[in-house]
Amino acid sequence: MSARNMMLQVDDCGGDHCGGSRAPLATPGLFPAEPMPLHRPVMLEEALAGLAVSRGSVEPRVFVDATYGRGGHSSVILQRIRPGDALYALDRDPQACESARQRFGGRADFRIHQRNFAELREWARSENLLVRVSGLLMDLGVSSPQIEQPDRGFSFSSDGPLDMRMNPGEGESAGDWLARASDTEIADVLWRYGQERNSRRIARRIVETRAAEPLRSTIQLAKLIASVPGPRSRSIHPATRSFQAIRMHINGELAALEQALEAVIELLAPGGRLAIISFHSLEDRLVKQYIREHSQTVRDGETLKPWLQRIGRSFPKSSEIEANPRARSAVLRVAEKMRT
Ligand SMILES: C[S@@+](CC[C@H](N)C(=O)[O-])C[C@H]1O[C@@H](n2cnc3c(N)ncnc32)[C@H](O)[C@@H]1O
Repeated sequence: MSARNMMLQVDDCGGDHCGGSRAPLATPGLFPAEPMPLHRPVMLEEALAGLAVSRGSVEPRVFVDATYGRGGHSSVILQRIRPGDALYALDRDPQACESARQRFGGRADFRIHQRNFAELREWARSENLLVRVSGLLMDLGVSSPQIEQPDRGFSFSSDGPLDMRMNPGEGESAGDWLARASDTEIADVLWRYGQERNSRRIARRIVETRAAEPLRSTIQLAKLIASVPGPRSRSIHPATRSFQAIRMHINGELAALEQALEAVIELLAPGGRLAIISFHSLEDRLVKQYIREHSQTVRDGETLKPWLQRIGRSFPKSSEIEANPRARSAVLRVAEKMRT
């Protein structure tokens, strides 16, 4: 199937692709409250069931939340693990890590590390966690606080610098990339990650405009995109697809996911669970292919020893989508590492 024919899900809520929305977390009394802004965790119970956090075990277990965000999933994992168990959390965003330190820094069974999950294998090796992880969670995409803080530059609903980096200390900002990329490169990104049908026209307009004035702000870019004539969806803001595509490119999101997946088998203990929530069809395709490949028993007539067993795929309930429209493009896939 050509890239152009692939179905792509794009979250069109309020103009940004994101896995959550503002909401109070249901942890009254147990943990310190999370200061605003918050992130409402998507498919919380399904993910926790997928990780088998409540499964009986005599051995102390290790869980890894590779996308801490604002701890929506981590906080409930911490409520349900037993004495002796531990939760390691990662996020590439320094603000997410600072928030985790403030909220759970006092717990001996919790660690937060600012890391890109692309480095999962190296990180796990340095923490002596290879073949020891009972549950690995990845809740992909961006968090509500990232979207809602104008100075992070993810949103076209409020004005901010064109940044879009999850870790502002790493790599090139969206503004710097748009200032130097060729129109072909920009068009390819808009098409590949956003299936923006106007990709070429938008890319040309960016290159023409920047020759006269630098593109510095989110609103400036959103207005430029909206001013380009061409086919439009009536249900989403004209800049939705381009912003999502630029964000995915700037953060190397698919490449990071591919690298993390390569490390999963090495991390998981026998019987350990992998649970991944994705919001974009290209991400979900990578996850699906990875699980399928590693659960194959026969390929080209040859009998294989499968590494994984597929546990299932699920979608948010309609009640969750009603309460949190940003959940609607979510897909959760769960697999278990074979015991022998
Ligand atoms: C959808 S949010 C997770 C929300 C979290 N589950 C919660 O309920 O609060 C995704 C988070 O993953 C982080 N993230 C995305 N890609 C990452 C990567 N390659 N490495 C580490 N963290 C990443 C983002 O910075 C963001 O904080």
